[in-house]
Amino acid sequence: MRTIKFRNKLSFQILMMIVISLFGAIFMMSIISRPLFELISMIMNNKNLNVLQASVAFIGWFSTAIVTFVLIFIMLIRKKIMYLKLISDTVQHIASGELGQTIEIKGKDELSQLAMNINYMSQELEQKFIHERLMEKEKNELITNISHDLRTPLTSIIGYLKLLKDGQYKHKEQLQEYFETIYSKSLRLKHLIDELFEFSRLSSPDVKLNLSNVDMVSLLQQIVGEYIPIFEEEQLTVQNLITEEDIHVVIDIEKMVRVYENLFINAIKYSQKPSELLISFEAEENSAVLKLSNQVESPPLDNINKMFERFFRGDKARMDAHGSGLGLSISKRIMELHHGDIYAEYKNGWITFTVVLPVTNK
Ligand SMILES: Nc1ncnc2c1ncn2[C@@H]1O[C@H](COP(=O)(O)OP(=O)(O)OP(=O)(O)O)[C@@H](O)[C@H]1O
Ligand SMILES: [Mg+2]
Repeated sequence: MRTIKFRNKLSFQILMMIVISLFGAIFMMSIISRPLFELISMIMNNKNLNVLQASVAFIGWFSTAIVTFVLIFIMLIRKKIMYLKLISDTVQHIASGELGQTIEIKGKDELSQLAMNINYMSQELEQKFIHERLMEKEKNELITNISHDLRTPLTSIIGYLKLLKDGQYKHKEQLQEYFETIYSKSLRLKHLIDELFEFSRLSSPDVKLNLSNVDMVSLLQQIVGEYIPIFEEEQLTVQNLITEEDIHVVIDIEKMVRVYENLFINAIKYSQKPSELLISFEAEENSAVLKLSNQVESPPLDNINKMFERFFRGDKARMDAHGSGLGLSISKRIMELHHGDIYAEYKNGWITFTVVLPVTNK
């Protein structure tokens, strides 16, 4: 909390107001004391005036001084009272739901500090409220998307099972075909449920990472090595530009492998074929940076980083029912948990995904 200078303190200011009002009252008393003394001497000399009249004159003189004191004091403190009223009114507005309302800061005393604290509280409350509303909206969207995505394969599984139940197949090959469809739809359903489970697990605020110190270069070489045959099968030629020097990072291996694997699988699913894939990994200042570039047939959306939104799926993914659209948003969350980053860029037919991890000393 900011400390207030003594001369700005409310107690000092009020003391000064009392002193000024007192001087004002004394000044007033001295102005009217001359006619008053004249009046008292008149009383003494004039047999017609009695002591009661003299007392009334004295009380009048004294009351004038008090009234002067009060008037000057009210004049001086009026601004503070008005400011206090403004603070009280604003607090009442905030309490009745007008979050985000602020009070103009006047002066440097305890009242302005109170106003500053109220402004901070009001803005924080507004932010929290907006955040909660957004969460609520996202949760509703999530439920709608989940229901839709789960219902699609389930409906077709039920449809094919009904055909089998009613014996509606012509020959053994058709029976086999139905079984295969049911099997692949079931796998898709399982993939969706697994992704959703992972997504909601990672969204929880108390998610924990199982951290260990690893040489990222050998880990990546191993993963890329496992994917090379699949890349080749899919007519993707890999240019491996992974550095040979050791780069140590502290990561949750399982989760980071998930990030890299989603990128490799995405490259397989969404690349133009045949084409080239560039994979590079190197240390840059205090970070370890992986870049994966693949070629695409058509330029992606205006804002390429929309791909990291939950349930975002491009046309290709939607048409082939390839993915759930959760892979990249899960990756984004994993990178946040590692204090790293993941983003995408597009240039001349190439999409480049960059994954940044903070580097540790060995
Ligand atoms: N390397 C890429 N090249 C072109 N488009 C991509 C690439 N990676 C992702 N995309 C686009 O971004 C979308 C989201 O990708 P994301 O990995 O989040 O989900 P997904 O692959 O559809 O499903 P899954 O949850 O199984 O990973 C994809 O559907 C695709 O349209
Ligand atoms: Mg994916």
